[in-house]
Amino acid sequence: MIRAPAGPVRPLRFESGCVTQQARLAPGTVMDAVHVLNGPNLNLLGTREPETYGTATLADIEQRLSALCKRSGKTLHFRQSNSEGDLVTWVQEAGRLGEPVILNAGAYSHTSIALHDAIKAAKTEVIEVHLSNIHAREEFRHKSLISPVARGVIFGFGALSYILALEAILNEAA
Ligand code: DQA
Repeated sequence: MIRAPAGPVRPLRFESGCVTQQARLAPGTVMDAVHVLNGPNLNLLGTREPETYGTATLADIEQRLSALCKRSGKTLHFRQSNSEGDLVTWVQEAGRLGEPVILNAGAYSHTSIALHDAIKAAKTEVIEVHLSNIHAREEFRHKSLISPVARGVIFGFGALSYILALEAILNEAA
């Protein structure tokens, strides 16, 4: 169990049992959380290149993770942004709280030194995930700037990549 540090209190907003991106924890809140951060274009899952990414929507993935988290007594912070800066801020936030992160940074995985630096500085573990097998695709996807600073990398299993990452976190915490 981790005690959230003092900080600005903003109202928690729940959607399908999960804390949304507006959420901030009240000072002194006792919690045990997992952050799932999604980068650009992942809001389009379900209709975006289904032959590559499958037909599950981001909401479907959130629901599956939410059920697993509930069973394990964890709070799920599930967020998506098309902006690199939001992802950096959220990695920093999880790092401050010492809470594990599952990160699908989308195309920023291949380009973002800022995310590499944020993960390196974060005092928590970050698991990189991808739905697709990035090594079986275009050459520009073969390199991830995040992998060298990630706790581990899981890719190629569609929505299951996220579940496997959560299982890794739950098993390591057990
Ligand atoms: C992705 C792979 C990236 O190369 C791509 O830019 C994405 C999705 C994946 O989950 O397979 O947006 O991260």
